[in-house]
Amino acid sequence: MKFLRLTVLAAAAALTTLTATLAAAQGAKLKVGLMLPYTGTYASLGNAIENGFRLYVAEQGGKLAGREIEFVKVDDESEPSKATDNVNKLVKRDNVDVIVGTVHSGVAMAMAKVAKDTGTLLIVPNAGADAVTGSMCAPNIFRSSFSNWQPGYAMGEVMGKKGIKNVVTITWKYAAGDESVGGFKEAFEKAGGKVTRQLNLPFPNVEFQALLTEIAAAKPEAVYTFFSGGGAVKFVKDYAAAGLKGKIPLYGAFVTDGTLEAQGADAEGIFSTLHYADDLNNPRDKAFRLNYAKTYKLQPDVFAVQGYDAAQILAVGLAAVKGDTSKKAEFAAAVEKARIDSPRGAFTLGKNHNPVQDIYLRQVVGKENKVVGVAAKSLADPGRGCKMGG
Ligand code: BEZ
Repeated sequence: MKFLRLTVLAAAAALTTLTATLAAAQGAKLKVGLMLPYTGTYASLGNAIENGFRLYVAEQGGKLAGREIEFVKVDDESEPSKATDNVNKLVKRDNVDVIVGTVHSGVAMAMAKVAKDTGTLLIVPNAGADAVTGSMCAPNIFRSSFSNWQPGYAMGEVMGKKGIKNVVTITWKYAAGDESVGGFKEAFEKAGGKVTRQLNLPFPNVEFQALLTEIAAAKPEAVYTFFSGGGAVKFVKDYAAAGLKGKIPLYGAFVTDGTLEAQGADAEGIFSTLHYADDLNNPRDKAFRLNYAKTYKLQPDVFAVQGYDAAQILAVGLAAVKGDTSKKAEFAAAVEKARIDSPRGAFTLGKNHNPVQDIYLRQVVGKENKVVGVAAKSLADPGRGCKMGG
């Protein structure tokens, strides 16, 4: 019985390989499954990622490795409980060649499990879940963004070096918040600081008032936070309305990205660490920003860059296999050797397929996250628990 099952599975895998090889040889369209949030607190992030991805494809004349791209879209709603069904629709019903997604770490972990089990190519254009390039890492899984640990760790070093000793953290209680604070705490406490209180609320709750009252009473030297999207807009506004702005400095990751229009003066002066900033002024970034603004009548943000770079990673892999996505090992080998010419500055992928990249210290001035300096040079995620191919 077991032998029969294995034979059927092997036959199915051989058929998938043959189909992919024939499709590439015939120059058939390449199906890209975009699994992103198009509703909810992270909707703007999903849209920016899709814009960035499409922009790179358009710059290549609408084709990668000679194959036109056909998009199949799923709104994942940033809802982990629906994630497995959603990703299975793309893999089993739509037969996509590659999945690009998503934003939310909990959803991404379900996607990584299906990708690992089925061998489908997955490129993660945002979600920082450490496990995706840690214990769940796989030869067919790549990330164009960051691990949650990276910006948090960089900020822990920055605040430690500033001589700050006593910090309260506040975030959503799920992998992204926990791991961002985890990275921060690791570096900050190594530098002699102490996280005196870790405040949380469930994702995507935005009733911050009781926690802000607790911060006011605790009077820490500074606050470290992770929020993003619609939740970040409300948090920064509520922080100011509670009278904390100017009294207890706010530091964070993602809390001012793609949100500055809506946050206005309440965001002024906030320090954050990330792998992108709005005034990098390198030629690659200038060209990217110009083209993005012309195409979408919008300014790009870090999410748009990550979408753009997900398409670049796909292009590198596809070029090496002449569009044949069944050649997974050759695809991975090409991506592992590549230097991705990103608007953020060139980066490579580490052995665990996570970007090795500079993390900038930025400060909000007007409507921009402006670079103050490089907080951590060529920072690699530790890839804890990653056994590639194991
Ligand atoms: C996450 O869930 O991993 C995430 C969401 C928004 C911004 C950054 C990370």
